[in-house]
Amino acid sequence: MLIKVRKSWELKDSDVTAQSLYLNRRQIMAGAGIAIATAALPSLAFGKAYDSAVKTKYGDDETLTSFKDITSYNNFYEFGTDKRDPSRTARALTTKPWSIKVEGECNKPGTYNLEDILKNQTVEERVYRLRCVEAWSMVIPWNGIPMANILSQFEPNSNAKYVQFDTLFRPEEMWGQKRRFLTWPYQEALRMDEAMHPLTLAAIGLYGDTLPKQNGAPIRLVVPWKYGFKSIKSIVAIRFTRRRPKTSWNMMNAREYGFYANVNPAVDHPRWAQDRERRIGDFFKTDTKLFNGYASEVASLYDGMNLRTNY
Ligand code: MTE
Repeated sequence: MLIKVRKSWELKDSDVTAQSLYLNRRQIMAGAGIAIATAALPSLAFGKAYDSAVKTKYGDDETLTSFKDITSYNNFYEFGTDKRDPSRTARALTTKPWSIKVEGECNKPGTYNLEDILKNQTVEERVYRLRCVEAWSMVIPWNGIPMANILSQFEPNSNAKYVQFDTLFRPEEMWGQKRRFLTWPYQEALRMDEAMHPLTLAAIGLYGDTLPKQNGAPIRLVVPWKYGFKSIKSIVAIRFTRRRPKTSWNMMNAREYGFYANVNPAVDHPRWAQDRERRIGDFFKTDTKLFNGYASEVASLYDGMNLRTNY
């Protein structure tokens, strides 16, 4: 008897259902010209962190990358350096319960359960382009909460000029942490005004369901105008600081990975050009846009700054 064993990165029927239901709903809503709370998708395999997501204007004109590509072509070095490693091995990660430690320049430091942080927050649906420094990109329908709404709960004080985020360090579940691909835990940071910018998202889902583990469950950062490595996954610590914090990729190779990491077609990576990108799933390359196409919303954050030296 021949039994087909499904590889973990292959799509399950329920995944296909998730994507097609989502796309149907998107078409119906677009056709009716409505932007209201959308109903939760029925019969999905795992418990949802939210019941509905409010549709927003972001990315209405974009063609979405498939659920399969978004969830099987990943960078998550805690689960290996091959793009297929995270979808094969991230299931080992325990995401419940999940708490976040809040430290530094704020009035409400402490350790918070994720459910408490998310309580009473409105989850939005935002379609953003994610442009990786390796010159490929995806268009992802995220579900999340503006990061400003999360951070303001902890009342950062006037000394808070930056905010640093840490990923979980748990080598017994994240096998890649037994090797020194990077210094662990993975750390990223933003200037406070970047973190509080309305485009910056704390993502807790995609395609209308909970965030898959390989994409950074249960909560990750998404900063759409910056290269993908700024969008740190599986966050367990938030630290408000006066000084610019260290960040993992910058510590590994400062010449190649700057603190700002704003998408900029005019500034090449030392080993390759950044003016073109390949959308995953597309054959032809497209031109990369300044700030990944979000210049009208974010360029003013960098007024007067030399974007070549502050790469
Ligand atoms: N976060 C952690 N903790 N570990 C990582 O290796 N990779 C980054 C970023 N966040 C990474 C991470 C990089 S390089 C990219 S391009 C994006 O996650 C990829 O996100 P995706 O796999 O959901 O597309």
